[in-house]
Amino acid sequence: MPGISFDRAVDYYDATRGYPPGVAEQLRDALVATLQLSQHARLLEAGIGTGRIALPFIEKGYFYVGVDLARRMMGQLCQKLDGRVHQAYLVCGDVMHMPAANAAFDAVIMAHVLHLVADWRWTLNEVRRVLHPGGAIVLLSDERNEQDGDPPAPRMQVQQAWSAILDELNVPPDQRRESAPHGLDERFQSHLEASGATVERATLLTYRQSPQSVRSVAQRYQERMYSSCWVLPDDLHAEAARRLQRWINDHPSPDTMHEPSARIDAMIARWV
Ligand SMILES: C[S@@+](CC[C@H](N)C(=O)[O-])C[C@H]1O[C@@H](n2cnc3c(N)ncnc32)[C@H](O)[C@@H]1O
Repeated sequence: MPGISFDRAVDYYDATRGYPPGVAEQLRDALVATLQLSQHARLLEAGIGTGRIALPFIEKGYFYVGVDLARRMMGQLCQKLDGRVHQAYLVCGDVMHMPAANAAFDAVIMAHVLHLVADWRWTLNEVRRVLHPGGAIVLLSDERNEQDGDPPAPRMQVQQAWSAILDELNVPPDQRRESAPHGLDERFQSHLEASGATVERATLLTYRQSPQSVRSVAQRYQERMYSSCWVLPDDLHAEAARRLQRWINDHPSPDTMHEPSARIDAMIARWV
């Protein structure tokens, strides 16, 4: 299996992972400024999904190619484009064997994909193959941005509770997907630098997430909306979901709504 297809998440992906209005456009503008992209830049997104990041680029007329294993996820992006004139090309394929010529792109964007692929080192090498000399690979990651004194974000509270429950149930690491490097892991940077890249990190923007409560986030674990729940055997997931319900029942304020502060961080690799 080359990676984990998100086709099973298509019906709820945008509702649970989408940015609040305006954030994706700010992200596009920050990337254009940071990478100094011209309007003629050739862009590739590896693991494009439903176009959460791609759509504002496509709407502004950029040449944008997306590759993803999940045909139905990309189908959502097609619906959003709905017959409008654009320069977007979507390919159902594996980012470990990129269906593209060498040196074809000026920048390759990846967000929350490397923890899903069968071999992230291979994937980074393959992504570099299709990058034009002087181009950039950009890894993006959505991060918590709490300040001292802020209440812990619901996602964090639930993640910790869920992880403790999996510990109680003696769930091994391969059934929790915790061993794969996530986000902007140091190992990605070391691998890129070892291949001769200059790597910089930047926070592209901060924003307030859409309102959420402990209960609403916990339900996503109980309903297996996160890919980390997909590898858990059914019986273990059912037991973990029951224990999480007990944890919610004991929580002092499960329905209090929060709008946690979040940021989008980037790791940018260039070869000169
Ligand atoms: C968490 S989603 C992120 C989508 C998008 N980048 C975003 O930020 O909204 C990960 C995507 O990577 C895709 N994916 C996972 N492994 C892949 C592979 N080996 N080749 C192509 N796509 C893959 C999944 O199908 C899914 O659409």
